[in-house]
Amino acid sequence: MSTNIYTKVDEYIIDLFAKEDDVLKTIQERNDSLNIPQINISPSQGKLLQVLARLSTANNILEIGTCAGYSTVWLARALGNNGKVISLEVDEDFAGIARQNFKIADVSEKVDLRVGKAITTLEELYNTNTPKFDMVFIDADKPPYLEYFDWAIKLCRPGAIIVADNVVRDGKVLDDASTDAAVLGVRRLNKALSADKRVTTTILQTVGVKDHDGMLIAVVN
Ligand code: SAH
Ligand code: DHB
Ligand code: MG
Repeated sequence: MSTNIYTKVDEYIIDLFAKEDDVLKTIQERNDSLNIPQINISPSQGKLLQVLARLSTANNILEIGTCAGYSTVWLARALGNNGKVISLEVDEDFAGIARQNFKIADVSEKVDLRVGKAITTLEELYNTNTPKFDMVFIDADKPPYLEYFDWAIKLCRPGAIIVADNVVRDGKVLDDASTDAAVLGVRRLNKALSADKRVTTTILQTVGVKDHDGMLIAVVN
């Protein structure tokens, strides 16, 4: 079996800049043994999130879509002193596993995991005077991505960074005939943001150890 050049280069990048330590390796092995779907970000994407978190000197990060908390650990590790990640997850079982992973990674103090439908929790965050976020990572169900993004803007300070995962989907965003709810959801976000003056936005196409996809990256004006 030949590994394609994009995967090999991604492995090269990971080896240089995003090597998993024993904690991240343990978490991956646990998740695999617990049959958690392998829909977490890759190590090089984790490192990209850390670079963006440092760029926004993030003390308050919001994550929408925790799953087993793999991306949350990358984010928590990029926080400043006394920083916090608030992470939203609808599935109780995933949330339970994520909490154990936060203990393993020694980041429990830095992570505030809130179980429930994200759209409800986002409204609660808005109504309870939560400190403004420096960074938001959107990675939950795709159909309401635009609604998540609108909440993210309201919950962020100017200059904050908002990232949305999986906005290219193997190039399926180009397929006008697609009826896939995830494709339609991310395409709706991409199109809306192309004309949204509240943010300065682009999409970074990603290839490598995960499928061909992309991360939308926006700065709040
Ligand atoms: N960010 C994680 C992967 C998240 S996978 C990582 O990279 O490690 C997407 C997660 O979003 C799943 O765990 C799913 O249960 C959750 N999700 C789906 N719909 C949701 C909703 N309406 N509200 C909150 N979470 C949701
Ligand atoms: C899926 C979800 C994700 O967030 C991801 O990064 C990859 C796949 C999915 O639901 O299939
Ligand atoms: Mg994702």
